Amino acid sequence: LFRLILFLGMSSIVAPSILSADFGNLSNDISMLNTSKADWIHIDVMDGHFVPNISFGMPVIDFINSLSKKPLDINLMISKPERYIENFLKYNTKVLTVHLEASKHLHRTIQHIKSNGVMAGVAINPHTDVNNLSEIITDLDLVCLMSVNPGFGGQKFIENSLNKVKKLKKMILSKNSKCKIQVDGGVNILNAGQLVKNGTDVLVAGNFIFKSDTPKENINSLKKI
Ligand code: DX5
Repeated sequence: LFRLILFLGMSSIVAPSILSADFGNLSNDISMLNTSKADWIHIDVMDGHFVPNISFGMPVIDFINSLSKKPLDINLMISKPERYIENFLKYNTKVLTVHLEASKHLHRTIQHIKSNGVMAGVAINPHTDVNNLSEIITDLDLVCLMSVNPGFGGQKFIENSLNKVKKLKKMILSKNSKCKIQVDGGVNILNAGQLVKNGTDVLVAGNFIFKSDTPKENINSLKKI
């Protein structure tokens, strides 16, 4: 009975992606998130080198951090992320994620993040096989499967991502890892059910939340899955 109650009480972690927010009224969007059921605020830092877009840097994140009542889930979409780990650990950071494709000494970077008591994540691009994570999966707290090519919000979900969730879930179970699976890109109410059913723990959504007239309801709808 206890297990059943635990199971019924479980819901997905929802992390709205601030990239799709209104940067002219950022404080409004952050207040909306503060009073919503969102769990984390997802923050994509882009450098115009690892991805073909530049998003924002420290002054904007300082501001988000000062207003947010929710912890930050920061994804460094930048080359050589090890150069900036310290800068992003000083916030109310729940998860700090680096890209597999951008890191030469991934194991060292992961240990650096974890030694500060922050969850360590690794993101992989749509073309990257999840098997590339097999030697590090037991060290990770989170894997972010990019379900669009990183760089822009509002893109179409790549259907093969669901197969990657299944494959990754198998790997996590077989290695007895506690790593969470996050899916980022084109997530909405139409694909979230299948994603969660197959093992996704964290749903990142940008446009589905911020480009809607009912952002809080949309967060709730993802939470209820
Ligand atoms: C893409 C970003 C995503 C994006 C998600 O580079 O990593 O986080 O903001 O936004 P949607 O949900 O609109 O694809």
